[in-house]
Amino acid sequence: MNTENTAAAIPAQHDNTLLVSVPRINIGVFCDNQQTGQIIQAASIDRRMSKAHTTIQLGGIVAAAQVYQSEPTPNVVIVESHGDRAQIMAELGHFAEVCQPTTKVIVIGHINDVILYRELIKNGVSEYLVAPVSALQIVETVANLFSDPKAVPLGRIVAFVGSKGGVGSSTIAHNVAWAISQRLNTETVITDLDLPFGTSALNFNQDGGGGIFEALAQPDRVDSTLVDRLMTKLGNKLSLLNGPSGIDREMSFDAHAIETVLNVVRHSAPMIAVDVPNVWAPWVKYTLLNADDVIITATPELPSLRNAKNLVDMLKAGRPHDRLPRLVLNQVGVPKRPEIPAADFGKAIGLEPSIIIPHDPQSFGLAQGNGQMLFEVAAKSKSAEVMMDLATMIAGTQQKAAKAAKFDLAGFMQKLPLMKKKS
Ligand SMILES: Nc1ncnc2c1ncn2[C@@H]1O[C@H](COP(=O)(O)OP(=O)(O)O)[C@@H](O)[C@H]1O
Ligand SMILES: [Mg+2]
Repeated sequence: MNTENTAAAIPAQHDNTLLVSVPRINIGVFCDNQQTGQIIQAASIDRRMSKAHTTIQLGGIVAAAQVYQSEPTPNVVIVESHGDRAQIMAELGHFAEVCQPTTKVIVIGHINDVILYRELIKNGVSEYLVAPVSALQIVETVANLFSDPKAVPLGRIVAFVGSKGGVGSSTIAHNVAWAISQRLNTETVITDLDLPFGTSALNFNQDGGGGIFEALAQPDRVDSTLVDRLMTKLGNKLSLLNGPSGIDREMSFDAHAIETVLNVVRHSAPMIAVDVPNVWAPWVKYTLLNADDVIITATPELPSLRNAKNLVDMLKAGRPHDRLPRLVLNQVGVPKRPEIPAADFGKAIGLEPSIIIPHDPQSFGLAQGNGQMLFEVAAKSKSAEVMMDLATMIAGTQQKAAKAAKFDLAGFMQKLPLMKKKS
């Protein structure tokens, strides 16, 4: 038994693997101390748990056994105990008498004890966590109870947004998606949410497409067959889902439509690059808050800085358990233009640029004119080099996530707190 260094068994806060959202379930929590209560409170407002209804009380397993004598147990019960192995087993014995068979039980204990872990699992407990737990660990544990191990792995949704119009966000989204699919061999779907003015088809020298409008207009009829039919193939391992790129129709939709469509799209490929237009609407906010990664492109000017800061602040507040967004500083070095130096820009918005792309009108202009990627017309340019770096950074996270998913499947023995501690 070892109560020291238990933190080593707990996953790092920002190393998120892809989690399914927890459905509209009820969760009853009985903590044994205030601190755990606060952590679970933080978990309950995480974006992936926001649909579930969580009630948190003090009193541990004993209180849970009492409360559920007179009411049915919810879908999930999380109980905490400061007891030793014998005490936890005895208290759970009482709780088991009132617990419905369909209720999933998570136990938080304060001892890192493999024998206890095995005994609990044998007795139908879904998971045993060693305190102190992190909010993300709670989200992950609850989400895993509802993810189907046989389901196709989820694709990573990477949202690209500009700090103002024309900063190059779409161009970067398309190039990075191209690089991930062609150079890093990962099946990628570009989802262009700029329905009337999107440039994705133009940038790939395509006409037609436009199907995402059909999906967003009838979100409840969207399934993977429909999404597959609406996609345009751009090449080996690269597809496009875009709008009609015209203004002849009314095109308004809500966050629910985006949620439904993206949830289907993310089953079709491991990488989804979402080109988010520079407008502000509830569905835009939803898309950014719920993406797995957000890439903010900004130019080194004051309006761009102000808007980028607002976006970063909003994302930090709304996604406290997620990785920070990445900043791309683009069009740096426009002749004669006074610019904010990259270091000052990063300091002002609280986020260092991940890459800096020079102002390169010749290469970007040629690519746009030809309907080709920058990698095709200026493969050796600095811009191509740094955009490849960004693609690798984004895909690197993806590959790490895929590895983590495999590791989970390898068997629950690997999940033992003591085993994990060694790695
Ligand atoms: N680093 C750069 N140097 C020169 N031109 C660029 C650069 N990045 C993007 N552009 C050009 O800027 C224009 C606007 O890009 P776009 O991707 O449509 O911006 P956004 O999606 O942010 O509105 C395009 O013509 C594009 O080719
Ligand atoms: Mg754009």
